Amino acid sequence: MYDDVVVLGEKDVQDLIELEALCFAYHWTREQFLLGLSRKAFVVLGIRDRAVLSGYIAFSMIEDEMEILNIAVRPQYRRRGLAAKLLAKSLAACEEHHITKSFLDVKISNEPALSLYRKFGYKKIGVRKKYYPDTKEDALLFRYDFPTKD
Ligand SMILES: CC(C)(COP(=O)(O)OP(=O)(O)OC[C@H]1O[C@@H](n2cnc3c(N)ncnc32)[C@H](O)[C@@H]1OP(=O)(O)O)[C@@H](O)C(=O)NCCC(=O)NCCS
Repeated sequence: MYDDVVVLGEKDVQDLIELEALCFAYHWTREQFLLGLSRKAFVVLGIRDRAVLSGYIAFSMIEDEMEILNIAVRPQYRRRGLAAKLLAKSLAACEEHHITKSFLDVKISNEPALSLYRKFGYKKIGVRKKYYPDTKEDALLFRYDFPTKD
């Protein structure tokens, strides 16, 4: 089901920063990606269409918590289920690492992302006023609890 989702690494950083620049006004730099990957501070998964990186997700895992740091899909590849596939694969990978809960923040105006996260069962747990440096928008904080295994 997730055959086309691959783990990305340092060799993919140029493609990642190009995709980020297309999708975000305020985006990660090459150095941030390289540092995070070299320190294993986060995991990056992606989907390619031949040579084109069409979408990616970055998340961290610390003890039993996962945080979604970013997710983006190239504009012409949107609404085809790529973000859903990347998120589902990430959650499945986290379950194998005994992660119990997931957190993220999202701009209050980002309807596509809000809808995506709600669809996966994330619930709003708080607001950070004027959180984002680029737009001074509020951040909504979301949490997802992984299903418990008996
Ligand atoms: C948010 C984003 C990653 C969604 O990617 P996508 O591949 O188009 O999403 P999918 O096709 O997998 O859609 C999955 C669900 O997300 C929601 N969704 C996606 N795009 C949507 C839109 N334009 N309007 C409303 N809901 C949307 C829907 O719930 C959808 O489920 P459905 O198809 O059953 O309705 C993409 O719009 C994007 O890259 N946006 C810019 C970057 C960004 O804002 N990232 C989020 C940072 S928090």
